[in-house]
Amino acid sequence: MKKGFLASLGIFTLAISAFAASPALAVEDELGNAANNYQLYCSMCHGREGDGKGQLAETLEVPPRNHTDGAYMSKRTDEQLFKTISEGGEATGFNSAMPSHNTILQKEDIRGLVKHLRQLCNCKYAK
Ligand code: HEC
Repeated sequence: MKKGFLASLGIFTLAISAFAASPALAVEDELGNAANNYQLYCSMCHGREGDGKGQLAETLEVPPRNHTDGAYMSKRTDEQLFKTISEGGEATGFNSAMPSHNTILQKEDIRGLVKHLRQLCNCKYAK
């Protein structure tokens, strides 16, 4: 009886620590990762919902882009969005507060973020 209890406790603990050690595995698909990456790398400025109202937003000279603004976002191509995320605002004619991410994120992660932005604005590029 006691042994059985201890054994199941052991299995339970193992299961918990396996889960805790690999939180990314729970959301392995591209957009799952993109949503995580967005919260991790973008939300402090652009807001958790992408509305441009992150915690740091008020400290910046230029307001972070509102990614839920479909009218604006549909005027930007995926390539333009990719380049700004990758190389930063200064390289693409925007404010330098927008950081580059090409040294900390893989190309496929940045492509995932572009798709995530398209979900946030519920839009695609339309001339
Ligand atoms: C330190 C704050 C900060 C962080 C972190 C940040 N941004 Fe920005 N971002 C800005 C600001 C400020 C602008 C607006 C620049 C302007 O209007 O000149 C901007 C602009 C942009 C644009 C504008 C592109 C366009 O075509 O108008 C995109 C896309 C963007 N950010 C995506 C992201 C993504 C994705 C992340 C996370 C990987 C991120 N940003 C992280 C501050 C930030």
